[in-house]
Amino acid sequence: MCGIIGYVGGKPAVEVALEGLRRLEYRGYDSAGIAVVDPDGSLRTRRRAGKLANLEKVLAETDGWAGTTGMGHTRWATHGGPTDANAHPHVDCTGTVAVIHNGIIENFAALRAELERAGHQLASETDTEVVAHLIEDALSAAEPTVTIADALRVVCGRLEGAFTLVVTHSGSPDTVVAARRNSPLVVGLGDGETFLASDVSAFIAHTRAALEIGQNQIVEATRAGVTLTDFAGTPVEGRPFHVDWDVSAAEKGGFPYFMLKEISEQPTALADTLRGRLSDDGGIVLDEERLSEQDFRDVDKVFIVACGTAYHAGLIAKYAVEHWTRLPCEVEMASEFRYRDPVLDRSTLVIAISQSGETLDTLMAIKHAREQKARVLAICNTNGSTIPRESDAVLYTRCGPEVGVAATKTFLGQVAACLLVGLFLAQVRGVLYGDEVGANVAMLQQMPGLVEQTLATIEPVRALARELADAKAVLFLGRHVGYPVALEGALKLKELAYMHAEGFPAGELKHGPIALIEPGLPVVVIVPSPRGRSVLHGKIVSNIQEVRARGARTIVIAEEGDTDVEPYASHIIRVPRTPTLLAPLVTTLPLQVLACEIALARGLDVDQPRNLAKSVTVE
Ligand code: F6R
Repeated sequence: MCGIIGYVGGKPAVEVALEGLRRLEYRGYDSAGIAVVDPDGSLRTRRRAGKLANLEKVLAETDGWAGTTGMGHTRWATHGGPTDANAHPHVDCTGTVAVIHNGIIENFAALRAELERAGHQLASETDTEVVAHLIEDALSAAEPTVTIADALRVVCGRLEGAFTLVVTHSGSPDTVVAARRNSPLVVGLGDGETFLASDVSAFIAHTRAALEIGQNQIVEATRAGVTLTDFAGTPVEGRPFHVDWDVSAAEKGGFPYFMLKEISEQPTALADTLRGRLSDDGGIVLDEERLSEQDFRDVDKVFIVACGTAYHAGLIAKYAVEHWTRLPCEVEMASEFRYRDPVLDRSTLVIAISQSGETLDTLMAIKHAREQKARVLAICNTNGSTIPRESDAVLYTRCGPEVGVAATKTFLGQVAACLLVGLFLAQVRGVLYGDEVGANVAMLQQMPGLVEQTLATIEPVRALARELADAKAVLFLGRHVGYPVALEGALKLKELAYMHAEGFPAGELKHGPIALIEPGLPVVVIVPSPRGRSVLHGKIVSNIQEVRARGARTIVIAEEGDTDVEPYASHIIRVPRTPTLLAPLVTTLPLQVLACEIALARGLDVDQPRNLAKSVTVE
């Protein structure tokens, strides 16, 4: 949600910033802008509504900018529409201070009124612009020796809400300053150059040495590195880390869309999530464990909090966690969690699932949980992000960068990571014996191969998708772990193809939604294995017959050898045989491909669907 890059070094800042914005555009694409401080101290800015290409066009017509200090922004609009005037950077009345921002300044209306009373001219409808004018005041009120970092510190003391702010000032041509509270910011440390960015992909082409920044901190970046202080001015330390993937992982690699590449990467992504998770004594290994085994033994209830696709991964996990650990497990949308005052104490384990590690709803949910003394374990794909840092233990999904806005490979990583946590809990609590845990892990380790097998036979799904491109709506039905898969299939179709889609528990249909069925309506049914939970299987075969009898076009996802569904299926999509709890790792794949191909057939951009952003850092 808004992408930010700041740069100070020896290269033309405009080029570094544009390259960074290309990699960050997935975070928001309503407008883009750039600011560069020239060596003579003049501040230049350009900004344009719409995708980055519009800004690039304007910059191509601009004379070469010599400055090697600057910043860039790609916006997901919150306050004020996606216009040129609302695009970042925003400048103060003197035109010497430029500010870019990710987050929401909640008290901006009061600050704006105060600034206007004092004679400031505000040119946009954004919350961000007040910061430029407040810095102008802080600089003019203070001693001439006061730095831009000092001024930013004073201003941060007046701001409510979440923000990452990056500021350039014509009076400080060799410095870029930034502040962060509850919004992402990482530092890239190059050779004679320093980067500030929403995530490491913005500077990965230049350096893999990064620094994690804590909450409520100010960063002063020069070519030599960074100085970090808290909002009171006390020096603090960042946490260095090495980015373990390179620039090729953040590129399309011959695919027309990142989403297609990321779908194809799922066997590797899943294998990477699972890699090295079993210790020599057969135990499961987490990444950063600041909780003791006793803490896990003391758990008497599990909450999973997450949003969107990550929430669906949590819904799947519930079945496994309860089955393996015999602990009650509730799954909550993170945005609702803290407002309903859930019952939490130090024996509650809260599992927060987040690809980006920055989703503000999830971050606020875990902060609330920790205030109530609950333990928090994060499942996250992004090293250096906020949610792992604010948690007691972490398991990284290690799926590599996911650039397509719709989550695909990280969903599989999240499901697998949740299953590992379930097994870990069962193991430390003594509910499963070591050999039972080992047998489950062995089955999990076969899944990357089965994912590969499923993707190798996915071509007919693409053809079917093209046939469905004009459908008015699509329904998805599932039972047991197939129900969250149905929700995920519907979400993918909504966000990518802008089609009406709903996921239902198949048994619930007859209690109302069956009225939606009309001749020709595509209904996708995720069928559980006939082996193992045969009761479920029999029930869903009846549900397929019910919708088919009312004229629906039934698209059935069933495992190899399941012949019972054949008489009632308009189309069958086969998936390999898997244990029931692991089936979502394969049944989700055709749904991702279906949504992606329908969207492409409708001429849509699957990497950047309308109104969305990859990392949602506002509540
Ligand atoms: C859908 C999608 C979103 C995210 C959700 C949570 O394809 O990607 O629903 O799953 O915004 O994001 P993270 O996992 O970053 O917390």
